[in-house]
Amino acid sequence: RPVVVDSVAALRAQVHGWRRDGLRIAMVPTMGALHDGHISLIRIALEKAERCVVSIFVNPTQFAPSEDLDKYPRQLARDLDRLGLARADLAFTPTVGEMYPAGFATKVSVGGPAAGLESDFRPTFFDGVATVVAKLFLQATPDCAVFGEKDYQQLCVVRQLCRDLDLPVEIIGAPTIRDPHGLAMSSRNAYLGEAELNIARQLNAILRKAAAEMAAGADQKDATAEASRALIAAGFTEVDYVEARESLTLAPWRRDREGRLLAATWLGKTRLIDNVEVPSI
Ligand code: PAJ
Repeated sequence: RPVVVDSVAALRAQVHGWRRDGLRIAMVPTMGALHDGHISLIRIALEKAERCVVSIFVNPTQFAPSEDLDKYPRQLARDLDRLGLARADLAFTPTVGEMYPAGFATKVSVGGPAAGLESDFRPTFFDGVATVVAKLFLQATPDCAVFGEKDYQQLCVVRQLCRDLDLPVEIIGAPTIRDPHGLAMSSRNAYLGEAELNIARQLNAILRKAAAEMAAGADQKDATAEASRALIAAGFTEVDYVEARESLTLAPWRRDREGRLLAATWLGKTRLIDNVEVPSI
């Protein structure tokens, strides 16, 4: 098992020792309930650096009052076992009080790539993410940090955050890990029953089909509307968005640019997101 610290002071002391020894440090921020997607980030982190810090913190400021903060899966003992197998060096498991002591009054708000998509449905989400990620980076002072493409808009927002605030952390994007049926691994998949799983497994194929049609010249609006219809036909209960954006900036997609097709959809009370590449022509 990795060393476990739950205070910022103990985290800093550990990291300080590594720095003194000239070691390169990577960070993988998570909310726990670790699955193979998270583990793949740790593997990449350890290719890029000699030490890997993994934070496990279910960050309340990125959940709206109506969302699943209370029922979000928490399984620390199992997570620490998995971190040991993955050879992570340090687990940072702060309490809410450690991260947000009484009187906490600062918010980091990113524009640019945070606009639209998730923000249209979760308007306070990226402020919560940017604030906690900025804190984690200032606490752990990693040289690099690995984020999954699974949360593609989040990855773009974190890159923008580091660029704009001159946080000296290299952000590394990592491919989405999927089950054999194409379903992106997610801690929230634990909410799904067997019948719902079979529906969820169609999300990626529906997006890939739409992306291929767009790459082959189909009209963007037609392809995304068709994908939304296909999702409902497959059994999804609601579609928040299916939208193509430019990969790097998340500006509106243009056919001559690398694109990304992003979607958020509901299966009963569970919200699922996924995204796929749209090749340029
Ligand atoms: P969480 O959902 O736990 O995800 C932690 C990291 O794992 C994120 O970078 C996410 O993109 C990545 N990840 C999740 N599922 C993945 C998959 N199937 N394949 C590859 N990577 C995957 O994202 C968060 O936590 C939080 O918002 C956080 C950044 C920790 C801030 O609180």
